Amino acid sequence: EKGTYPHFMLKEIDEQPFVMRKIIQKYQDDNDDIKLDEDIRQAMRECDRVYIIAAGTSYHAGLIGKEFLEKIAEVPTEVHVASEFSYNFPLLSEKPLFVFISQSGETADLRSVLVETNKLGHPALTITNVPGSTLSREADYTLHLHAGPEIAVASTKAYTAQMAVLAILAVDTARAKGLTLGFDPMKELGIVSSAMEALCDQKDVFEQIARDYLSTTRNCFFIGRGLDYYVGLEGALKLKEISYIQAEGFAGGELKHGTIALIEDGTPVIALATQEHVNSSIRSNVQEVVTRGANDCIISLEGLDREGDAFVIPNVHSLLTPLVSVLPLQLISYYAALHRDCDVDKPRNLAKSVTVE
Ligand code: M6R
Repeated sequence: EKGTYPHFMLKEIDEQPFVMRKIIQKYQDDNDDIKLDEDIRQAMRECDRVYIIAAGTSYHAGLIGKEFLEKIAEVPTEVHVASEFSYNFPLLSEKPLFVFISQSGETADLRSVLVETNKLGHPALTITNVPGSTLSREADYTLHLHAGPEIAVASTKAYTAQMAVLAILAVDTARAKGLTLGFDPMKELGIVSSAMEALCDQKDVFEQIARDYLSTTRNCFFIGRGLDYYVGLEGALKLKEISYIQAEGFAGGELKHGTIALIEDGTPVIALATQEHVNSSIRSNVQEVVTRGANDCIISLEGLDREGDAFVIPNVHSLLTPLVSVLPLQLISYYAALHRDCDVDKPRNLAKSVTVE
């Protein structure tokens, strides 16, 4: 039920701090160690490469998951759009592990890949919000997102839950491999939860940004580098899905290779600047578009912020910034859709779970 909320989407955005705490609680044992099925731990240790298969928002979580698995656990990882996988079937490593990421656990594009990989006898892990779902039943292992039912077609809390669970999986694998880590994931996720809460308390700021930048525009661009690029892709998907504004996310460095031709007077460009090693490069990209007339909106991280940034998110671990920096984008999309009189929870032409290929 929506309770006092006007839309499920807003309720689900607001639930994210709580979902983080729930995940910490579910994946932590009494000794503060990570609680994970021993079979999953073994499968992660034994594989020589992870193949993440997903669609839409879950694919965007997969892109972040690849960074976690490679940077934290040193596991080579590929991410594939499910609907393309069969045509672009990669050369598989000797001991592949397939990881299916799906909020609903029912997405047909993923199922057809799972049927294929099951036939080949490769192990599969499903990360889902619905443990009894088809993808969960037909895979060898399941990790539960514990996000609670997600009703709005636009995925919000499942995305942040997917990234949190992937971070925990990466840390657990790193520990099982004997790698030393400089951070405690549960503590860092606790910090993420508080940062999310702080953002949810400032909705008026995002409503104003949506009003200022998006009430009449036909298009909008999201730029970022590294992890911010992936979050930009998700921001663009969210915005187009519910507000019908043509939105595109791209890597800051790719601007000059074509997309900059689309920048006109007043084109909104939302830039993410949460990564220290690319902070000055992304800011030069913003300058490039501003020179061509863009209306820039920079969302940065505390400590990396500069005068004139539209919003500064509280400091969190540099690998976990996507879990927090996506909230402004979710809220901006929500208010843009609202101001444009769109059906926020049930956008046209879309279904919550896509059960046809
Ligand atoms: O249930 P799934 O995670 O497998 O769904 C995948 C996509 O259909 C889904 O993420 C879709 O892109 C959302 N509507 C995006 O908000």
